[in-house]
Amino acid sequence: MPINTVKWTRNELKLIDQTKLPDALKYIHCRDIQTVWNAIRRLSVRGAPAIGVAAAYGVLLEANHFKGKTRDELMIRVDEACSYLATARPTAVNLFYALDRMNKVFAKHPGESSVAVLKKLLKDEAMAMYEEDRRVCRQMGQHGAKFIKPHNRVMTICNAGALATVDYGTALGVMYAAHEQAVPFQVYACETRPLLQGARLTTWELRKAKIPVTVICDSMAATVMKRGLIDAVFTGADRIAANGDTANKIGTYNLAILAKHHKVPFYVVAPSSTFDLTIANGDGIPIEERHHDEVTHFRHVRVAPRGVKAFNPAFDVTEAKLITAIITERGVIVKPGRASVNKVLRYDKI
Ligand code: MRU
Repeated sequence: MPINTVKWTRNELKLIDQTKLPDALKYIHCRDIQTVWNAIRRLSVRGAPAIGVAAAYGVLLEANHFKGKTRDELMIRVDEACSYLATARPTAVNLFYALDRMNKVFAKHPGESSVAVLKKLLKDEAMAMYEEDRRVCRQMGQHGAKFIKPHNRVMTICNAGALATVDYGTALGVMYAAHEQAVPFQVYACETRPLLQGARLTTWELRKAKIPVTVICDSMAATVMKRGLIDAVFTGADRIAANGDTANKIGTYNLAILAKHHKVPFYVVAPSSTFDLTIANGDGIPIEERHHDEVTHFRHVRVAPRGVKAFNPAFDVTEAKLITAIITERGVIVKPGRASVNKVLRYDKI
């Protein structure tokens, strides 16, 4: 059964409410931009590419509510919508990439004064991003599947699957492609505290795809690698700097260090829209800090003494030198660095 994480249907945005998984498959029907903002902020929709496409549809919802008559008024309304959605979460650059594309619709059609036509062009742009996500995820899958050999045991963290994109995935997309090629392999999924995207979401979708999966606590990764149980690590990314330094879910950096120590290849799988070439290296990537309750509580049950201090960065940065390769839809960046990133991306997105 396909997973439709983000879908525009009957003039509304339909999202899987990922906070309810794996216990229930429930949907959120977004009819206004505020609902989209909330869904992004509370991680009902999450994962960098899915956030980007959802935000594009959020802008479209706002444009569709516009009752004015002039291009300039609509342009201001769309610009405000983009500024508003940009405050939902700071790290995944796909959000800003998608908003930028929606805003640029006006610049791309300078002579267009019809509000109805401009609304249609905004819809076309959001739809194009949706279709591109479907296409590039499958292309990354094709580029990356060769790195999974028969009977490999691969590790992943967080969820970089169908639930993090519109329907297929980046790191898990590579696994789906290998599975479609009938390569037998199994997955170790790190649970991914504090919000358990690995335990709740990755296991849910891999089981649906009938790919064998074992969940482990994050703290078990070193032991699993030391015992020789892992042949490769595959993760997604939220923002990749010009030199290949990669921000992804907190705990990714730990895995990269462990992988280096145990001589296990470490692959990042991400579309070109996840690169931010305006940032020279990982030090410039903004890291979201989330509410302390996510750390002091486990699935809404308090596990730390009332009033204790907590620290909750949602992402970390893995230095490029720890990454074996970055798999993009444009090709594989081996030994990522400024030159190899430029060579594969060829600058034309940015
Ligand atoms: O906080 P989340 O669940 O949005 O974090 C998601 C991740 O870190 C993913 O690995 C990343 O966005 C890549 S998804 C294809």
